[in-house]
Amino acid sequence: MNLDQSVSSIFKSKFAKEPLLVSAPGRINLIGEHTDYNEGFVMPAAVDKQLTFAVASNQTNRFNCFSVNSNTSVSFSTSELQAGGEWHHYLMGVIDGIQKKGLQVGGVDCVFGGDIPGGAGMSSSAALCCGFGFALNQIFKLNLTRLELAKIGQHAEHNFAGVMCGIMDQYASLFGKQDAALLLDCRSLEHEYIPFDFPEIEILLIDTKVKHSLASTAYNDRRAACEEGVRLLQRSRPEIKSLRDIGLSELEFIRHLVHEDIFIKCRFIINEIARTQRAAALLKANDLRGFGKLMFETHRGLSQEYEVSCAESDLLVSIASQFSEDVLGARMMGGGFGGCTINLVKKDAIEKYSQKVREKYVVTFKKEPDFYSTKLMQGVHTLS
Ligand code: GLA
Repeated sequence: MNLDQSVSSIFKSKFAKEPLLVSAPGRINLIGEHTDYNEGFVMPAAVDKQLTFAVASNQTNRFNCFSVNSNTSVSFSTSELQAGGEWHHYLMGVIDGIQKKGLQVGGVDCVFGGDIPGGAGMSSSAALCCGFGFALNQIFKLNLTRLELAKIGQHAEHNFAGVMCGIMDQYASLFGKQDAALLLDCRSLEHEYIPFDFPEIEILLIDTKVKHSLASTAYNDRRAACEEGVRLLQRSRPEIKSLRDIGLSELEFIRHLVHEDIFIKCRFIINEIARTQRAAALLKANDLRGFGKLMFETHRGLSQEYEVSCAESDLLVSIASQFSEDVLGARMMGGGFGGCTINLVKKDAIEKYSQKVREKYVVTFKKEPDFYSTKLMQGVHTLS
């Protein structure tokens, strides 16, 4: 039985009715890290690791939800919505986001489960929010657009999970397309698809299996540093609304206005926004080697300037750089402080490369990394 069938059959045995089935993918990000909340560009894609939802209205005001992966059930009504870090708080955040738009939802029965590794930086929480929101949208005919659903997912993260994330993860989960990356402009919230169809290349994620408990605090701190930078720069350039509005030379010019550490963080973001635009041009020209070089550059910046990497991710990327013939690009992916690195690897070198990585990683960190091959897939969609 595949994942969809088993979620559906668990639902039927618990609730004895036919559910709506929805699939919600996790995401990768090729390049453009920490640029989304600075109104820059990102290049994510939805992947073939997903959450499947089975959902049906239950004509009550209760939400009876079961997580297959954690084997836990939670039942609540709309008067009991509260913030927290458990899976049901994200669902509560989605319901709250829908209500804040002046829309009403009734109770549902819901079973969900999937294969997105948790804490690996593949946005299982975005898949959770977007899949659930998408299902409620269908069942209660709310007429929410995909962009509105993405913002509702972000509302849940901000207000219920306490992570001040950008819009990239939710957007990628909802707008993904098979064999394509999204070039998303986080200011206009418009995207274009760029084909990513290189039969000889594998997008290999290597999971450090590091989960830093302070990652969300550090993430919020980075965001605050960028906002502080913008606030100070506005003293001499009031028209600056975000780091998207300023070039490197201008930043240098008003360098004296900001603390050195904030200057370095802002400089990384300005470079990363420009790098993502260059990377998009290279990808359109099918220059994957040039693209990969920029991924290595991004990693250096994330590690040394933005300071969101960790020893485990740094080691993985440094091994990748020693395989320069077979590994076109590699870098840490997502918010940072652990999770996965993303590697563009020639298919015929996967075995050799993975073996070497495993050996070196085990020697240094006394644990094995995990390896996930990914394919670029369609965004959230119904299955039934
Ligand atoms: C997390 C956030 C995203 C984005 C990335 C970093 O995944 O949820 O919004 O900021 O980190 O690029």
